[in-house]
Amino acid sequence: MIPSHVTIIMDGNGRWARKQGEERLFGHSNGVESVRACTEYAVEKGIRYLSLFAFSEENWNRPEAEVSGLMSLMLKSVMDERETFAKNDIRFMVIGNREHIAPELLSKIEMVENETINNKRLTLIIMLSYSGKWDIQRAAELYAKDYAAGCAKDFESYLATAGIPDPDLLIRTSGEQRISNYMLWQTAYTEFYFTETLWPDFRKADFEIALKSYESRDRRYGLIK
Ligand code: IPE
Ligand code: IPE
Ligand code: MG
Repeated sequence: MIPSHVTIIMDGNGRWARKQGEERLFGHSNGVESVRACTEYAVEKGIRYLSLFAFSEENWNRPEAEVSGLMSLMLKSVMDERETFAKNDIRFMVIGNREHIAPELLSKIEMVENETINNKRLTLIIMLSYSGKWDIQRAAELYAKDYAAGCAKDFESYLATAGIPDPDLLIRTSGEQRISNYMLWQTAYTEFYFTETLWPDFRKADFEIALKSYESRDRRYGLIK
């Protein structure tokens, strides 16, 4: 079975750059090529949702030069990919704490989100300025308000990912085997796949291996099968 929602913690750009004797940003810009390859592959395979952890709330505490380099790269990529989104019927979305995103980048993000809002083939979600604890805390505050007003809905509908099915498969590159404050609520029954491959090296062949591994899993959700 092809997973409906694949999420990827794109890790290892800095180490990849260091191995080539280059600056960390060189790793990030090569990582963009992997994003392109994986998006293409997701479209080919009929995956409906591809979410990519691009920048965590904690990542804001990295040196200013790296943060601003990453944000410039983000802005450039969003603008560069517009044609691909139109051609491949891709809906583009950003999920995360928008209060921390610079207005210039945010306005471009919103423009492309609106431009692609009716696209149906694949929803590409960039998790930017996102953290799982932020998401749950914010949802709890919104829930509490509605609860007090007597109109509380299902808790999940307050999460930043409302309307998007929980990930079926989570891939993390670079050999780290941790969740790093990513989708804490949403990964309750997600299958995990870890690979030593660094993100800039992760391309279609690696994605295919991850999907093969997913196919062999037996998802029981606490039941007996
Ligand atoms: C992942 O690569 C990208 C971001 C977190 C923005 P890293 O920058 O974490 O690379 P490593 O883990 O230091 O190699
Ligand atoms: C997680 O990677 C965040 C992203 C890939 C965007 P980090 O490199 O920030 O995570 P840690 O610090 O190794 O846990
Ligand atoms: Mg890292």
